[in-house]
This record gives sequence, C-alpha cells and structure tokens, in this order.
Amino acid sequence: MPNLTANLAGIKSPNPFWLASAPPTNSGYQIMKAFDAGWGGAVWKTLGIPVVNTSSRYGAVNYKDKRMMGFNNIELISDRPLSDNLREMEEVKKYFPDHAVIASLMVQSKKEWHQIVNDVQNAGADGIELNFGCPHGMCERGMGSAVGQEPEVIKTLVGWVMEVAKVPVIVKLTPNITDITQPALASQMGGADAISLINTIQSLVGVDLDNFVPYPVVDGKSTNGGYCGPAVKPIALNMVKNCAIHPEFKLPISGIGGIETWRDAMEHIMLGASNVQVCTAVMHYGFGIVREMISGFEEYMIEKGFETIDEMVGKALPNVKDWEDLNMKYEVKASINKDKCIGCDLCYIACEDGAHQAIRIPENSTNRIPEIIDENCVGCNLCSLVCPVENCITMVRTDDGSEHETWKDYQVKDKAPNTFDDERAGGRGHYVPKPSDALKK
Ligand SMILES: Cc1cc2nc3c(=O)[nH]c(=O)nc-3n(C[C@H](O)[C@H](O)[C@H](O)COP(=O)(O)O)c2cc1C
Ligand code: SF4
Ligand code: SF4
Repeated sequence: MPNLTANLAGIKSPNPFWLASAPPTNSGYQIMKAFDAGWGGAVWKTLGIPVVNTSSRYGAVNYKDKRMMGFNNIELISDRPLSDNLREMEEVKKYFPDHAVIASLMVQSKKEWHQIVNDVQNAGADGIELNFGCPHGMCERGMGSAVGQEPEVIKTLVGWVMEVAKVPVIVKLTPNITDITQPALASQMGGADAISLINTIQSLVGVDLDNFVPYPVVDGKSTNGGYCGPAVKPIALNMVKNCAIHPEFKLPISGIGGIETWRDAMEHIMLGASNVQVCTAVMHYGFGIVREMISGFEEYMIEKGFETIDEMVGKALPNVKDWEDLNMKYEVKASINKDKCIGCDLCYIACEDGAHQAIRIPENSTNRIPEIIDENCVGCNLCSLVCPVENCITMVRTDDGSEHETWKDYQVKDKAPNTFDDERAGGRGHYVPKPSDALKK
C-alpha cells in the first residue's frame, strides 16, 4: 500500500487531508468526529477576540443541478471564548496525538499575538496558521485580508509571531490581490515555515430581484462576502502554481480551494501543494467524503507507481510554461465518432456561432450527425468541450511532430507579425465566410 503520511514544514499527519479553518472545525466535538472519520489534520476555526455574527450569513451559486457550485459567507472568526477552544484543543490532542491540530489565529496588537500564540502552544497545537485572508468584516477592523494585501505588514506580523513560536507557522494568504507571490515572499522574509492558500475571494453571489437586495439578506440589507467551493478551484490552482514555481520562493504550500474529490486534491499536489485543506465540500457532504479521497489516492498511486506523497508534490510543474514557450507547430483537429454521436447539434451550433465555422450538418442528413471541415478547423477544442457524450469528439494530432517552434523562436527568426496587416498573421489563409453569407442560412 502507498504511504499517505504527509509532512508540511515538520507538521506530520497520517494523510494529507486537513479540514480548513471554518465551521467544520468550530469545536473539539467536530474535529474528533472528523479524525475518527479519517481526516489527517484540522485547522481550528480562527481564534481571536470572539465575535458576534449575523443571521443569515451564507449565500450560494447553484448551477443547473449542482447545488453550491460556489459558496459565499459573511461569517467572521470564532464566536466562542478562547478558553473553551483551548480546553477542547488539549482534549483532542490527548485522543489523537498523531493527527495534526493547527490553531488558526487572528488578532491585532503584538501583545495579543504573543499571548495567543503562547496559549495555543500550551494547549498542544502542532502548528499555527495566521489568518491574513478573511475578505469581509474582519478586514474592516484592520485584520484578515487588510493584512494579507500589504506585504510589509505581513512581514512585520509574521516577525512578531516568530518571536514566540515554538511550532511551525503557516501564513494563510488572501487571493484578493494582483500578484500572490508578493505576500508569499513577504511571509518567507518574515520567517514563516509554510503558506496556505487560498482563503475566500471577495464576492456578491446574487441579488433578490423582488426586494432589490443582494444575498445573503440580513434584515433587508447585505454586504460582500468570501467565495469558495468548486467554482474557485481554477483560481486556487493557478495561485498555488504561481507560488510553487517562483524561483525565490522556497516554503512548502498547503493547497486550499474547491477541493471536493481525490482528483481535486491530487491536482493541488501536482501543482506544488504538500497537503490540502477542505471546507465547502465538508459543509455540503460531511466528514465522510475523506474516505473517497483516501481510497482515490491509494488507487491512483498504485496505478502510477508512486509510494509517497512527496514524490507527487509539484509533479506537473515542469510542464507549466509561459505562453511564449509553447510549440506553435503542434496541431490538433476535431474528430467525431459517428457511432457515439446522438445528433444533438450542440457542436455545430458552438462552432458555427462561437468558433470557426468548421462543422457542417450534411444536406439531406437523416440522423443529423455532423462532419468536421478539416481545412477550417483550428483545433480550438470548443466542440469537444460542449459535446455531451464522453469521448465522442476527440482532438487528433495532425502535425508529424518533427517541428518545434515557439513564439520566442518566431521573434528571433523574424516570423512574428508586427504590423496591422502582416502577411504572417496566424489567421491569414484561414477560412472566413463573407459577412453576407450570414443572411443566406
Ligand atoms: C463559512 C465559512 C467560514 C470560514 N471561516 C474561516 C476562518 O475562520 N478562518 C479562515 O482562515 N478561513 C475561513 N474560511 C475559508 C476556508 O478555510 C477556505 O480557505 C475557503 O473556504 C476555500 O476552501 P473551499 O473551497 O474548500 O471552501 C471560511 C470559509 C467558509 C465557507
Ligand atoms: S475544434 Fe474548434 S474550430 Fe475545430 S471544429 Fe471544433 S469548435 Fe470548430
Ligand atoms: S455535440 Fe457531440 S453528440 Fe452532439 S452532434 Fe456534436 S458530436 Fe454529436
């Protein structure tokens, strides 16, 4: 069996699956239940001066039959007294000494930072996560993303924490910033041991059109919240990758954002995360989802011949390039498997109206199975993405693989278009119907 144990900056856990700091880690009861279900670690709901929350506080984007495709909250940090949390933390560690219990913290002054870091260390926390990410409420009070958006402030605050920290310190970053590598590097300069990302993305999920108020509604009013769930995974993956490939950034990464299945978790790891954290999926489906994550990892690792998590961390990074380093001579074209096609026309409509007019429905066709017009197809993938039948449209390589030229090469070899009507434009020679042909159909 593959070895699933994980190690983030010295914080060990039986597997790389941690609960992110959020409602599922609000109490010792929940964390014990989660560990019992199989989770390897948990980041306690952020501790600080306890807050008062609003009711209601969540909103969601439902997409077709998928509930909570995106999830939004205006909740603040823990509303429970610190001493209750510390007592429960100690108890959890007694029952689960080998699981990772991380204390997420958010306070203001240096004195408060020192005091709370000492408190959670005394309670047995295996690590500390600094919440510099909350994009609502707490940032109005000068904490959360208000800190995470200021690299200099990050450096100072991490420095304060490091003065008293005896366990590894993780900085949790806000995605509400132009260049995620700046706060990542500031965390490193401040002396942090790891980073985690992403916290939630500032958002408004919709508007009640009868009462003219955005969601979630609090007595007829609303405010912006933080967005998470499956919809944010692509943003999280890109930010994890940006930090992981930065030549000066050397800290381990805990990947967070949109993780619901073992595949989502593995994608974070392939792009540089040493472990992962999950919030929305647990709020939606409960602690039991970790069983699928564990078995999914085990099966995948056996199939691919991986024995440890570390072997897979960043495995996809060598294949991430800048656009200018991609091979311009690589060519694919769409190919339709007529035996699988159900004649729904979706590919035809998409290519005709949204791409390159490279699909036709043959005249007098009785089954409406479309055909690709090879010479018009630019290999954009759109038809294969819209086709509802798995593997019905595949993209087939048509160049012979003998040539490799990048945009960088084009510039060196003077092959790059540099005037408005340049003969070397990529679309020169591509089929484009006359405007008036639009009215003949
Ligand atoms: C209701 C709610 C409350 C949250 N509270 C916290 C918090 O107290 N501290 C924190 O660092 N992150 C908090 N988060 C952010 C999550 O830990 C996580 O970073 C984010 O939800 C992205 O992960 P996901 O896509 O798996 O939900 C909260 C998220 C939600 C939905
Ligand atoms: S790959 Fe793009 S251009 Fe080619 S047929 Fe499909 S949608 Fe049209
Ligand atoms: S979208 Fe797929 S199933 Fe529908 S017509 Fe095109 S190839 Fe056939």
